[in-house]
Amino acid sequence: MTVLLHIEGLGVRYGGVRALEDASLSVRDGEIVGLIGPNGAGKTTLLGACSGFVAPSTGVVRFDGHDLVGLAPHRVAARGLVRTFQGVRAVEGLTVHENVLAGAHRRGRSGAFGALFGGPRARSEERLARAEADRVLVLVGLTDLADAHPSDLSTGHLRLLEIARTLASGPRLLLLDEPAAGLDHEETARLETVLRVLRDADVACVLVEHDVELVLRVSDRVTVLDHGRVIATGSPQDVRRNPAVIEAYLGPRPQEAHHA
Ligand SMILES: Nc1ncnc2c1ncn2[C@@H]1O[C@H](COP(=O)(O)OP(=O)(O)O)[C@@H](O)[C@H]1O
Ligand SMILES: [Mg+2]
Repeated sequence: MTVLLHIEGLGVRYGGVRALEDASLSVRDGEIVGLIGPNGAGKTTLLGACSGFVAPSTGVVRFDGHDLVGLAPHRVAARGLVRTFQGVRAVEGLTVHENVLAGAHRRGRSGAFGALFGGPRARSEERLARAEADRVLVLVGLTDLADAHPSDLSTGHLRLLEIARTLASGPRLLLLDEPAAGLDHEETARLETVLRVLRDADVACVLVEHDVELVLRVSDRVTVLDHGRVIATGSPQDVRRNPAVIEAYLGPRPQEAHHA
């Protein structure tokens, strides 16, 4: 399998804070890579640095052979690397279907304006975008809510809508920042199914998530960050057994150990 995303020696500073230092990570075509670590470890910063939202001070970010450092987020997205955010960003005035359709239009060349003015190519693009939006809604299980507005949705459904919107733009690599936050058991199971379907559809994914068990179940490989540095990379089984990871993240916290 070819390497789709290659990050090497990545460093990010916010003023005096070193949020990331010498971080490396790779994602192959269609692979799910879990990215875990304590709060403040630099996970969100790493996603931001790959997607053009945060400027790295050092290092290489290469996607599909192209250097991404210095590219604006929309240029990165146009190459097929798209992130979701910790907060939800659905457009309130649009229905669920329209929100997803807006994502699907990002892949069409003549765009929403072309569709309004209705040339033959624009009309066929509009049909394609609608078909794509329908397909993605089925994929994430939101078809029954297609005409609802975001304010009517549960947190779990909003999270799935955010993923659907992103998927409709046809990404090759999705960066997900804590997609399971605030989801109940059933919603988390749905999310897990969606992640597996994505892998089968050859969409690669970097999954930042506090639900470590979810990450270890669905990921092909896992990278662990602590204090801005990568402390382990390997299979879920390797990472689970890694003493440095247990010490920094997976083991009982000192105060919990006292209660035992
Ligand atoms: N915009 C910012 N300005 C200053 N410091 C920041 C900013 N964003 C994050 N940080 C700091 O950078 C470090 C890494 O943060 P972050 O990437 O959000 O970690 P994580 O997502 O793993 O919780 C933390 O120390 C955090 O306080
Ligand atoms: Mg974060």
